[in-house]
Amino acid sequence: MRMRKVKWAVDYLTQSPHLVLEPQTLKGKWKDYLKVDSLHVEIGCGKGNYSLEMSNMYPDQGYVAIEKNESAAGMAVKKFDENEGNGHLALIQKDASDILSWFEIGEVDVIHLNFSDPWPKKRYAKRRLSSKSFLDQYKTILNKSGQIQMKTDNASLFEYSVLEFENNGFKMIEFSVDYRRETHNEDVLTEYEEKFVKKNQPIYRCVWEKI
Ligand SMILES: C[S@@+](CC[C@H](N)C(=O)[O-])C[C@H]1O[C@@H](n2cnc3c(N)ncnc32)[C@H](O)[C@@H]1O
Repeated sequence: MRMRKVKWAVDYLTQSPHLVLEPQTLKGKWKDYLKVDSLHVEIGCGKGNYSLEMSNMYPDQGYVAIEKNESAAGMAVKKFDENEGNGHLALIQKDASDILSWFEIGEVDVIHLNFSDPWPKKRYAKRRLSSKSFLDQYKTILNKSGQIQMKTDNASLFEYSVLEFENNGFKMIEFSVDYRRETHNEDVLTEYEEKFVKKNQPIYRCVWEKI
């Protein structure tokens, strides 16, 4: 669903110290920049609560949130800025199809795909964040045993993604078709996830490791 333009958020975006305007300049240097030992990248972060809360919960992990929509990105960095003292968090407001030019080979430890747009029509399948062209890029920037963690409410996207991962050099290490049946305090609910959980809809989740 297309988000309506939120003027204050678009105006706010570029003043935020959490926004990285030229991510290619930090290629290979993200861990030093964020002063962390491990690097997590969330693609399609929406309004940013997942990266923010996860980085608060795990101070030794750095989070780079990527969001192409200006309004959502502006709202995310506003929240980041209001959360004083968290220096291990950054946002890139760009389309993730360029991700290879922002991260060095093997630089990333974990990629998070949370409630990615399903793009149900076959002609738009290449836009799915779990399609082969994205997975090939993720494989390059992930370290040797790097992981991709995916959550979705969408059974068709989940099924499609399982096959794409399987056929493109990843092995499954965790799988659930009702992830929130149990409490998982170690993993924050995203904004979309909260809505689905409230409606008692199952959350599909899998974790993949690079082979
Ligand atoms: C359905 S929303 C989910 C937001 C958030 N992850 C959550 O779970 O609440 C998907 C988000 O991914 C973003 N997105 C989709 N494709 C993207 C891409 N290629 N690069 C960057 N962001 C993308 C959209 O703009 C949208 O904000």
